Amino acid sequence: MFSFDITHSSKPALYADLLAAADAVTSGEHDAIANMANVAALIWEFVPDLNWAGFYRMVDEELVLGPFQGKAACIRIPLGRGVCGAAAQSRATQLVTDVHAFPGHIACDAASASEIVIPLIHAGQLLGVLDLDSPKPARFDAEDQAGLEALCAHITPRLLG
Ligand code: SME
Repeated sequence: MFSFDITHSSKPALYADLLAAADAVTSGEHDAIANMANVAALIWEFVPDLNWAGFYRMVDEELVLGPFQGKAACIRIPLGRGVCGAAAQSRATQLVTDVHAFPGHIACDAASASEIVIPLIHAGQLLGVLDLDSPKPARFDAEDQAGLEALCAHITPRLLG
């Protein structure tokens, strides 16, 4: 249904195109699961060197697995546990260059070496987190963080229904 020409000279250009694509596929749609599913698919298509990309949703005070791309993953993560739980509890992006050095890291896929998790906050409410894993150490940097935080800020209001 959608097709994108993905050729990028820089990370900011990649994330600008990813945001535009995410805007296009979520525009006018209010179903949170549908929008998370399409955004996870776009991240998988646009962002190189990933082995997992997807969402965990806040449900009854814990994180529950949402739409994703990659291998089957752990389903429930308590607040404060692992990288996702740390992002949810602190409400701050967790950029982890070496997951093996992160206390309490949850290894859903043994191939993961680095990870970034962005909290999804709307009107002061934590809706969940966006989680990206890579088999490459130190795969994510400040440019990835800026691009993914901008993406999350844009789509979070479309993840309410
Ligand atoms: N590694 C995460 C768990 C989720 S998986 O990576 C998909 C964590 O430590 O929270």
